[in-house]
Amino acid sequence: MEREKFGSKIGAILAAAGSAVGLGNIWRFPIQTGENGGAAFIIIYIVCILVLGLPIMISEFMIGRHTHANTAGAYRIMSNGSPWKWVGWLGVFTGWFILCYYNVVGAWTLHYAFLSITNAFQGVDAKDYGNIFNHFVENPWMPTLWLFLFIGIIHYVITRGVQSGIEKSSKLLMPALFVITVCLVICSVTLPGATRGLEFLLMPDWSKVTSSTVLKALGQAFFSLSLAMGCLCTYASYFDKKTPLAKSAVNVAAIDTTIAIMAGFIIFPSIFNIGMNPDEAGMGASLTFISLPNVFQQAFGAGSSLAAIVSALFYFLLFFAALTSSISLHEVATAYMSEEFKKSRKQSAMIVTATILVLGTLCSLSFGPLGNITLFGRNIFTLFDDFSAMVLLPVGGLLISIFAGWVLDKKFYQNEISNGGTLKTPYFRLLVFSLRYLSPVAIGLIFLDQLGVFKLFS
Ligand code: PFF
Repeated sequence: MEREKFGSKIGAILAAAGSAVGLGNIWRFPIQTGENGGAAFIIIYIVCILVLGLPIMISEFMIGRHTHANTAGAYRIMSNGSPWKWVGWLGVFTGWFILCYYNVVGAWTLHYAFLSITNAFQGVDAKDYGNIFNHFVENPWMPTLWLFLFIGIIHYVITRGVQSGIEKSSKLLMPALFVITVCLVICSVTLPGATRGLEFLLMPDWSKVTSSTVLKALGQAFFSLSLAMGCLCTYASYFDKKTPLAKSAVNVAAIDTTIAIMAGFIIFPSIFNIGMNPDEAGMGASLTFISLPNVFQQAFGAGSSLAAIVSALFYFLLFFAALTSSISLHEVATAYMSEEFKKSRKQSAMIVTATILVLGTLCSLSFGPLGNITLFGRNIFTLFDDFSAMVLLPVGGLLISIFAGWVLDKKFYQNEISNGGTLKTPYFRLLVFSLRYLSPVAIGLIFLDQLGVFKLFS
């Protein structure tokens, strides 16, 4: 049977951008920016993307497009039987592993969208938002039901195939996500006192920049661009041979960064409008599910329809972002099962879905009934999260950059990214330099930093 392809360049870019734009853009990037020097952090982040992120993204695209195979198959083909083939397998494992816990948060966004639409936050006291969230995640049934619904939606999209499932959903969800973001930015920046929020986000404060800021920016850039998880390689395996790799990578990175900055334009003006301190608002789950529902109620009129609409739009934004990222992760594992074990797409998707339902449920229950199961002081969810962020991603990124920089033949590489010499590649030397030297050193430093080696010395 002929292997599927994306039907258009724009479909391919939107799908890859869908993978990149995720929870990381909305619940992590804005707060990291605000706390680490505003525009100074954004500049460092963009440099990290240009100098370190793009070369790896282009390499992943190149490997996927050249081999037209799932990530494990792609590296096996590229490595000519050498042990480098394990890099592909690691990418598949990382994608699948992240999917297990990423879905859990995706499910929470659905629940909060539902609460917002039904105006359930009407009349809630500011101090009670924490209890609402804790009761929800500790409950054995509710988060599990939403998780099954969230995974069911992903499963449906994946079984429809590359063009009718992934591409079609990206063409629908990504523009919707953008429109929602613009609407929310307009609502937020027109609030009284919005400029203080924008100043907090954008005023460059170089005094806050330290070596650890650079490592944070780099870690965020890698996670946000979905590098080293097999997603980009798998999606690129559905690219047409003529798809320009560098240009597509620049487009994906630009969309990803724009949405991340716009998320800051939504969050900070609202937080400052109600006189809250960004430190109090927190980051990640506490920002998203405890502080922000309260912030939206207070900023847009407690109990009002506008507050309900803004809140619902925000959680749908998160839901769409999480959904397109989760779809890309599911596809990594499904393509692997289907091609490596010669199974139909439906059977493969079924197997992947079954495994993530089981492990996702365990992660979800680790906030409630399974909370006492811990290892290294972490519950199951945090173990999945930390192991992937601290070990799998840096190791994967490091191996990919060494493989692309040192092992792959340079003539072959240049021929691929220039589409057989038809495109100019003035950036090629910088790209190779980055893959050979800059990326391995930078990722090595992040790895040591995350393992706490630097803290040991300070
Ligand atoms: N890039 C996504 C984000 O910023 O949230 C994270 C992500 C993780 C995307 C895993 C895709 C993925 F497979």
